[in-house]
Amino acid sequence: MRMYDIIEKKRDGYSLTKKEIDFFVQGYTEGLIPDYQASALCMAIYFQGMTEEERVYLTMAMAHSGDVIDLSRIEGVKVDKHSTGGVGDTTTLVLAPLVASVGVPFAKMSGRGLGHTGGTIDKLESIPGFSVEVDQDEFVRLVNENKLAVVGQSGNLTPADKKLYSLRDVTATISSIPLIASSIMSKKLAAGADAIVLDVKTGSGAFMKTKEEAVKLARAMVSIGKGAGRETIAVISDMNQPLGRAIGNALEVKEAIDTLQGKGPEDLTELSLVLGSHMVVLAGKASTPEEGKKKLQENIENGKALEVFRKFVQAQGGDPRVTEDQSLLPEAKYQLPYMAKKSGYIAEITADEIGTSAMLLGAGRTTKESAIDLSVGIVLHKKVGEFVQKGERILTIHANQKEVQEVEAKLDESIRIQTEQPEIPVLIYDIVY
Ligand code: URA
Ligand code: CA
Repeated sequence: MRMYDIIEKKRDGYSLTKKEIDFFVQGYTEGLIPDYQASALCMAIYFQGMTEEERVYLTMAMAHSGDVIDLSRIEGVKVDKHSTGGVGDTTTLVLAPLVASVGVPFAKMSGRGLGHTGGTIDKLESIPGFSVEVDQDEFVRLVNENKLAVVGQSGNLTPADKKLYSLRDVTATISSIPLIASSIMSKKLAAGADAIVLDVKTGSGAFMKTKEEAVKLARAMVSIGKGAGRETIAVISDMNQPLGRAIGNALEVKEAIDTLQGKGPEDLTELSLVLGSHMVVLAGKASTPEEGKKKLQENIENGKALEVFRKFVQAQGGDPRVTEDQSLLPEAKYQLPYMAKKSGYIAEITADEIGTSAMLLGAGRTTKESAIDLSVGIVLHKKVGEFVQKGERILTIHANQKEVQEVEAKLDESIRIQTEQPEIPVLIYDIVY
C-alpha cells in the first residue's frame, strides 16, 4: 500500500477502505508517513468529506493508536460527558456529583485547560489539598465506592490525534466536520466510556459559530459514536454569553457548590439537569429524561448531590469544609466593580471577550507550560436581557493586580447596552439522538 495512492483516491472523491485508513493512521503515528503527505490527505478530506463508514474507521484507528482505558472493573454503565468548549462552563463540576448521586458512575480522566479558562482539573485543584494524582487501582476503588472520581490524564492516549491535530492547526484543516468529529470521538472512545453525552456549544464563544454548523458536528459525532457501538446523544447549547455567572477557577467551584445547593444560576442549573437527565437514562437509572431530571432535582433539594461532592473532595485529599465555608477557597486580593456606562438593557455579553478578559487576569493558560492564578476571574451580576442603570455594577473583576485597564477595555468590547428590550437568548437549541 502506498500513501500516494490513498491521497489520490481521496482527492478524486472516492471512499477509503478500513485497511487504507488504518495504514495511514498507523504509519503517521509511527513516523513512517511524513507530515507533507498527511497534510495533503487532510486537505483532500477537507474538500471531499468522508462517508459515515470512513469516519468510524478513522475514529477507531485514532482511538487505538495508543492506550485505551479499561473501565470494566467499575460497576455499571460508565457515561462520559464532553463539551466542545465554552467560557465559564461549570457544568462538569455540577454534573459529576449530581449524576453520581443517583448511582451513575462518573469516572473522568481530564486534561488541563488551554486558552480561555482552566479545565475541570484546574478548577478542582483550587480546592485546598485536592489531588488528581490517583493510580488506576485507587481510581477504580473510588468510583465503585462513591460513584465519582476525577483524575489527571496519564499514559499515552490517542497519539495519532495529538499529531494530526497539531498538523491540522498549521495547515488550515481544523474546520472540517469529519476531522473534528473523529478527533473528539477518538478521545472519548480511548477514555473507555460505554455511552457519551455531548454538549455542543454554538455562538460567539464557541468553535461552531452558527446553530447549523453545531448541528452538523453533533450529527457527525452521534453517528460515529453509534457506529462504534456507544450510545451517544448531543445537546446543542448556547455560548453567545458565558454560562452561569462565574468565570475563573475557584470562582467556578463556588458557583458549582451554590448550584448543588439549589442556589445556582438558572442557565447553569438547567443545562446541568438536561445533560444529566440524558446521562441517567443512558446509564439505565431512569426510563425517560423527564424521570431522570426529577431524580436529579430531588437530589439537589435533599442535599444528596452536595454530600457526594463533599465525599468526593475528601476522598481526593481536598478540604471538604469548602461546601460550608467558601472562604477556604483562594480569593483574589481585589474585587473591582465594572459599572454600566449608560442605562438600558444588556443586549450582548460576548463570551469570547469575557474569556479573554479572564485570561488577561491570569485565569487561563497561554501556553501548555504557563502557570495559572486559580483565584482570579469575573463574576457577572447581570446577564443578557436584564436592565441596568447607568453606574450600576454589571460585573466584578477578581484580580491580584490593581491596574486592570486592559481588562476593562476588553470588557467594553464585550458588553453592549441598548434601549429596546432584547430577546431572551435560547439556552438549548436542539438535541441530536
Ligand atoms: N477539538 C478537538 O479535540 N479536535 C478538533 O479537531 C477540534 C476541536
Ligand atoms: Ca460559570
